[in-house]
Amino acid sequence: MSEIITVIAPVNIAVIKYWGKRDEDLILPLNDSVSATLDTNIMCAKTSVCARPEFKEDGIWLNGKKESFYSPRLQNCLREIKARAAAEKSVTEDFLQWKVHVCSENNFPTAAGLASSAAGYACLVTALAKLYKVKSDVSSIARLGSGSACRSVYGGFVRWHAGTNTDGSDSVATQIADQTHWPEMQALILVAGDTKKKTSSTVGMRIAVETSELLKHRIKYCVPQRTEEIIQAIKERDFSKFAEITMKDSNQFHAVCLDSYPPCVYMTDVSHLVSYVIHKYNEISGSIKVAYTFDAGPNACLYLLEKDVPQVISLIRHIFPSSNPDKFVTGLQSKEEALSPVFLSICEPQKQDLIKYVMHTRVGEGPTEIRDGSHLLNEAGLPK
Ligand code: DP6
Repeated sequence: MSEIITVIAPVNIAVIKYWGKRDEDLILPLNDSVSATLDTNIMCAKTSVCARPEFKEDGIWLNGKKESFYSPRLQNCLREIKARAAAEKSVTEDFLQWKVHVCSENNFPTAAGLASSAAGYACLVTALAKLYKVKSDVSSIARLGSGSACRSVYGGFVRWHAGTNTDGSDSVATQIADQTHWPEMQALILVAGDTKKKTSSTVGMRIAVETSELLKHRIKYCVPQRTEEIIQAIKERDFSKFAEITMKDSNQFHAVCLDSYPPCVYMTDVSHLVSYVIHKYNEISGSIKVAYTFDAGPNACLYLLEKDVPQVISLIRHIFPSSNPDKFVTGLQSKEEALSPVFLSICEPQKQDLIKYVMHTRVGEGPTEIRDGSHLLNEAGLPK
């Protein structure tokens, strides 16, 4: 009988976006990408795993629902973990034959462009690696679940190297700097919609690779230079450089989505208004104080320094009034401050609840094992 292993894993939000694969099965990207890993205290996936001789088949429960284990991505992750364990001789032959049970949940909406698959697969793979006592880097295994998941295997600021090998062996994530490097860096996630997106990232990027001329230009000329520059900005804690590159890269990614045929539209009028407001705010402030970035959905992730959070939250509250103001901002505690007329004039208050809520978080560490016994599986290896 094996013990139950429980792990929590973070979300990451890219500042240089991954968009386009050179191999769909192995999930190998066309370009390098860079992200920040966000604090698991605010947003995380939690996964429990165990292997037992008496289990008849592999089983997985996601957010309380039994799902099929026979998805190719899931199968690839489990197969690779077992192959590593066999190569490292970390468990017995018998153990490798036993079936596994997996139970996983997110504490935030799935498939709303909130990087839930990244946290989910990073969590699953880290938990399985601990179960099978795999010691080597597991980012390339998390990548087999969802590309962006490989970046959630590390905390702080992370680079996913596209690599050039056809077997994907050099398509791994590495840490640029850990979560203590730039402690002032925080994020506000503005949830503009939490319904499932129209076109999945997988399909959206396939259409882009097949049809977008702009994507070719982006990969050849823009991303390599931006990647080097943003890594430098992170190392030097140069916020305005970091922010400028982040916004330009998000804009270009969405331009590629529109350049796809048929086009993929992820940003909404609310998203575009957020982008307008941030540019105005930076202009009035006289320096770049906030960066926005949008994934494959309408929600904005704002990166900013801790000192600017009170003013920016007040600005968001002013423009996007909520019917439930006490619950509007969740996560880290922060004071708010009265806005001067020049900021109030950026934009009139909009109709209520265009932004549903805001998650206030910061850069955090990678996946961690939970040892307080709060497993999602009971003694019999079934969901609690
Ligand atoms: C816009 O990692 O979800 O968030 O590899 O097909 O599972 P698959 O795609 P996924 O794509 C994420 C795209 C993005 C940008 C990013 O996170 O870099």
